[in-house]
Amino acid sequence: MNPTDFRFRRLRRTAALRALVRETHLTTDDLILPLFVQEGIDKPVAIDSMPGVVRYPENQLAEAVKSAWALGIRAVLLFGVSEHKDDKGSDTWREDGLLARMVRAAKAAAPDMIVISDNCFCEYTSHGHCGVVADDDVDNDKTLKNLQKQVVNCARAGVDMIAPSGMQDGMVNAIREALDSNGFPHLPVMSYSTKFASAFYGPFRDAVDSNFKGSRNTYQMDSANGREALAESMQDEAEGADILMVKPGLAYLDVLASIRAHSVRPLAVYHVSGEYAMIKASAAAGVIDERAVVLETMLAFKRAGADLIITYYATDIALWLQGTD
Ligand code: PBG
Repeated sequence: MNPTDFRFRRLRRTAALRALVRETHLTTDDLILPLFVQEGIDKPVAIDSMPGVVRYPENQLAEAVKSAWALGIRAVLLFGVSEHKDDKGSDTWREDGLLARMVRAAKAAAPDMIVISDNCFCEYTSHGHCGVVADDDVDNDKTLKNLQKQVVNCARAGVDMIAPSGMQDGMVNAIREALDSNGFPHLPVMSYSTKFASAFYGPFRDAVDSNFKGSRNTYQMDSANGREALAESMQDEAEGADILMVKPGLAYLDVLASIRAHSVRPLAVYHVSGEYAMIKASAAAGVIDERAVVLETMLAFKRAGADLIITYYATDIALWLQGTD
């Protein structure tokens, strides 16, 4: 045989052959579903920029967690929309604050569900920044002190995993120290280790009813930087992060692949609000096949190196994979 004549199509002839040699698979076990809970409402509120996603009233969180469980989803990521904002986000470390109440309600609804807290301050601060502001910027080390109080509060409420998303330096170290010294050495940390300052978060700001107008460029990463993106995740691994993360997803597949090549830790990707909204809008315009595009996107994340995917499409995907929709 002339080596230039190799026929790739020999293994593409039938569906069974294609399945036999498929390199990447997507299962419901890979998925983490974000859920939004808003204080002071009594009916779910639709999020205009994210069709199909709602903010739940607190007393409907249990039901939302149970229905996710029934679909085979085994992990949820909780976001609160607070009515009790101040300049520090102190509601997040109150035992009766929204964050702790959400954790307790989700665990009570489905005790085996992996309940993950998004550990940040921006949904709980009056200014909308991800921590304590001093001299017009987020003060890294003051924020870490508050983050320690916040994560211990979540741990005491029964959370299964801590997910710090604020992009402060040393956050995993600080969290590990707080958890370990308060009796929670067993709790894993999934760090938003490489998080870019991204325009793809636009609809999320709508989702959490944020009046934030500034920029997060002094703490989130510059989207131009690939080497620094790797260094950020390797730093969090060195600090003891159990799971690393890249956020957003589709525009950063190169970053996923480079972290995958340098770390043996599980790697998550966040398919963010803007990515979700783009698919929804083009599907509504009739120009793409929503299901096919979503599944292709998820496979691309896994092919690039992600083990876990945080996505607002989690419940749809669970249904599609069951073939029952
Ligand atoms: C909070 C946080 C954000 C997102 C998740 N956690 C917003 C931000 O950093 O500005 C974005 C999620 C999404 O867009 O889907 N720090």
